[in-house]
Amino acid sequence: MSSSGPKAWSQRFESALHPAIAAFNASIGFDIELIEQDIRGSEAHAKMLAKTEIISPEEAAQLVSGLETIRQEYLAGDFNPSVDDEDIHFAVEHRLVEIVGDVGKKLHTARSRNDQVGTDIRLYLREQLDSIREQLRAFQEALLGHAEQHVETVIPGYTHLQRAQPLSLAHHLLAYVEMAQRDWERLGDVRRRVNISPLGCGALAGTPFPIDRMYSAELLGFEAVYRNSLDGVSDRDFAIEFTAAASLIVMHLSRLSEEIILWAADEFGFVKLTDSCSTGSSIMPQKKNPDVPELVRGKTGRVFGHLQSLLVMMKGLPMAYNKDLQEDKEPLFDTVKTVQGCLEAMTILLRQGIQFQPQRLSTAVTTDYSNATDVADYLAAKGVPFREAYNLVGQVVRHCLDQNKLLKDLSLQEWQSLHPAFETDIYDAIAPQQVVAARRSFGGTGFEQVRHALLEAKKRLLVVD
Ligand code: ARG
Repeated sequence: MSSSGPKAWSQRFESALHPAIAAFNASIGFDIELIEQDIRGSEAHAKMLAKTEIISPEEAAQLVSGLETIRQEYLAGDFNPSVDDEDIHFAVEHRLVEIVGDVGKKLHTARSRNDQVGTDIRLYLREQLDSIREQLRAFQEALLGHAEQHVETVIPGYTHLQRAQPLSLAHHLLAYVEMAQRDWERLGDVRRRVNISPLGCGALAGTPFPIDRMYSAELLGFEAVYRNSLDGVSDRDFAIEFTAAASLIVMHLSRLSEEIILWAADEFGFVKLTDSCSTGSSIMPQKKNPDVPELVRGKTGRVFGHLQSLLVMMKGLPMAYNKDLQEDKEPLFDTVKTVQGCLEAMTILLRQGIQFQPQRLSTAVTTDYSNATDVADYLAAKGVPFREAYNLVGQVVRHCLDQNKLLKDLSLQEWQSLHPAFETDIYDAIAPQQVVAARRSFGGTGFEQVRHALLEAKKRLLVVD
């Protein structure tokens, strides 16, 4: 569509904008994303103007029906604003005037693009938050699907990426379920601060018209209205808060990605990637690459970057609206899309892209010294002070390394020559299954604890707010 008149802002301007400046100034290239929210906000505003008798009910009905026509045009692919429209707010208003005539010019009574854009982004973000929260639930379910099958599968546990103590694989996966739970809760918390209406704050100072801000807020499903008009139009803290929460989500996904990448390497071999979720190399025919987790890990940087750009965009702004704020949209939209894309891909990867290799896992945990702590615990339980036991087991491990043996390969005689407290039950005590089962402390990896944690996690998934 074309613009009507020299420019929409006012007759104060005599000449048209330089084309390059018009293009530089315009946000329509990206804020078209907000069209549905812009229409919905305008519908609520028109109804509020009628309720407060600022316009007539007939006029409001005309505005609402014209806005509906624009919605349908957009859905049919027939609404294609140009750079001359500058932004989505002007574009919709211009088209409305074309459709309904002069009455369309009443829509902007008692409103500014400043409170309008603030309303649009909040409506947009509220919806996206809800969809990301649902995706987090699906991601948790996919993790739980594996966890349920692998309570008694034992996997090496690491600290410093060195074999430390064996774990229930379910326990390992449940750690990510917990992280995603906090992410879900955090977004719920952000949502409360997103869901506040700036509509009616005007350009910065409110309006002389007898508007009813509570009414338009209610129509749009906002839980409250901004108490201060300057604050309502000028802050973007809610978007920054969301981007910070999104950064934590992708940071968690990136950690899981890193583990899957390692697990899929031949050196570990703990998982196999299925054909539907991995890719080949153009030159090395033997390869199967973990592109999905690598991309998730790679995309994390974009989200962290967006958080930084929003913070920097805000930090020097005097009251109230400044055009810098137009720069909030691309980082915000890209954060939303990146988080959604990463969550979707990781959930599919978990559902059908990775197969744990129990055989490899069980070989891994029976061929290392990750049961050494349990030898020390064994002696401590028989009254040897733990530090003394710890030192002794250090000697045992060194002895084994010299002999090229594992702890389980030591004869009872050897054990007893190291300390008389050792008896035949030492062999049970250091078997990986027993080593895991023994960690019964709350939150530990003992199988009973893990079964309990699994049930609790499943119950938490049913919580809706
Ligand atoms: N396109 C603008 C933005 O995204 C809308 C608000 C413009 N307001 C103004 N006073 N220039 O921020």
